[in-house]
Amino acid sequence: MQQLIQTLKKAELHIHIEGSLEPQMMMDLAVRNKIQLPYANVSQIEQAYNFENLQSFLDLYYRGMSVLQTEQDYYDLMMAYLRKVSAQNVVRAEIFFDPQGHLPRGIAWSTFMLGFERAINDARFELGIDGQLILCFLRHLPESDALRTFEAAMEYRDLFIGVGLDSSEQGFPPHLFKNVFREAKNAGLYLSAHAGEEGPAEYVWEALDILGVDRIDHGNNAIKDLELVRRIARDKIALTMCPLSNQRLQSVPDLSLHQLRDFMDAGVIATINSDDPTYFGGYLNENYFAIADALKLSEIEIRQLAENSLLACYK
Ligand code: HPA
Ligand code: ZN
Repeated sequence: MQQLIQTLKKAELHIHIEGSLEPQMMMDLAVRNKIQLPYANVSQIEQAYNFENLQSFLDLYYRGMSVLQTEQDYYDLMMAYLRKVSAQNVVRAEIFFDPQGHLPRGIAWSTFMLGFERAINDARFELGIDGQLILCFLRHLPESDALRTFEAAMEYRDLFIGVGLDSSEQGFPPHLFKNVFREAKNAGLYLSAHAGEEGPAEYVWEALDILGVDRIDHGNNAIKDLELVRRIARDKIALTMCPLSNQRLQSVPDLSLHQLRDFMDAGVIATINSDDPTYFGGYLNENYFAIADALKLSEIEIRQLAENSLLACYK
């Protein structure tokens, strides 16, 4: 099964580039940039990756990204990810980034945008992988901040293909971001939103009906609402699911109880993704291995998942 997963051509549609920062790179960049981290070595970083829920992860994730300072840091981060997944037979990656995690630390737009762009271009040339960027808004911040961010991002409009919505979900329903999503739609961008990871099915309805998203990131809790599942299947809204993330953040009690197969059986275009690979213990193929094992997926189902990922790309 692992051989099959390795050889299949796949797309990754739900990966936060800041969540691909390897502990070793975090240490190296902290030294290079003279940033104080509350960890003395790599094993202390790894020991801190002990999450109870989404928020306990996010606290570490925002702290971890503080080591990213220069254009070269962003280049190195992006290049390391693209190398890693190209070796896993990922032919296309649609990659989230969080401007609002960088700008308040005094990092300029050009620093991260040009670092990402240079790595994506080099990887396309050297490895043949097709990398694309999706700009995410942090939902724990007010929409006014997202609107300001979006306006400034227009200078780099050609460097990203869509927008997303991430960070703390509960208490931050999608409708709070309807104006900025309308602007993104008007700018011709693709739209996605994290919904139903920890939040209720209602948030998935809002992402569809109020934001008008083309894809749902996670979507697990949509399974609790049959009418919603039928809607997602009918409108061919792809779900970008992340098994190891769900396990590590305890969004599912056990991987054997993961909602993936129920969605597939209902005719939903479900896909497998890594979310934050270094924090959750696996890149794309490790996510396929874990869910294939936990749900005893057949070869046909695994092929279907890889096919779904290519089908659900923004192009
Ligand atoms: N959910 C919400 N926000 C995030 C995640 C996630 O899984 N990863 C990085 N930011
Ligand atoms: Zn995510």
